[in-house]
Amino acid sequence: MALRIGDIAPDFTQESTEGTISFHKWLGNSWGILFSHPRDFTPVCTTELGEVSKLKGEFDKRGVKVIGLSVDPLSDHVKWVGDIGETQGCALNFPLLADADKKVSNLYDMIHPNANDTFTVRSVFVIDPNKKVRLIITYPASTGRNFVEILRTIDSLQLTDNYKVATPVNWKDGQDVIIVPSLKDEDEIKRLFPKGYKAVKPYLRITPQPNK
Ligand code: BEZ
Repeated sequence: MALRIGDIAPDFTQESTEGTISFHKWLGNSWGILFSHPRDFTPVCTTELGEVSKLKGEFDKRGVKVIGLSVDPLSDHVKWVGDIGETQGCALNFPLLADADKKVSNLYDMIHPNANDTFTVRSVFVIDPNKKVRLIITYPASTGRNFVEILRTIDSLQLTDNYKVATPVNWKDGQDVIIVPSLKDEDEIKRLFPKGYKAVKPYLRITPQPNK
């Protein structure tokens, strides 16, 4: 059955450009992002891997380990990594799984046969420190992902894990948030949100981001 939000991310051991990786052990207590690429030596994937390498500091700041996957052998990955460094203005700085036997792709349902029965779609899994899948995004092969949006979703997940809030449409770190509708007790609201809130509707209560 396909993976769903809230499931434990399946563990695996697979070769990568940074040696053999046992996934859960490699994650340790960090957040993680596992994302797939249809195949090596493809233009969109090349730009994505360059961009994620440039954003590595942003993932590090949020305590997120990043790992890519493509269904080609390690020997191809090594050559492709050279091309990425040469063309994208940044060397690859995270591991890329060599999933030639499709072990991980099948485990994470990254091959969608009605799209292509050989190569993966562009899947993204955000995994929390308890190894739970917290977010799944799936793009077709022809559409490059927006990794700034993925950073935004991590900001939201990490904020909403720690405060009784949800983040509204197009929210960005630092902007106002929504008090969760299940929180009704006025004294508790005053204690948790000392900056106050505006009730647009009884179920839509806006407050400044509590950790800013
Ligand atoms: C690409 O990464 O450029 C790509 C891969 C598969 C299909 C189309 C584009």
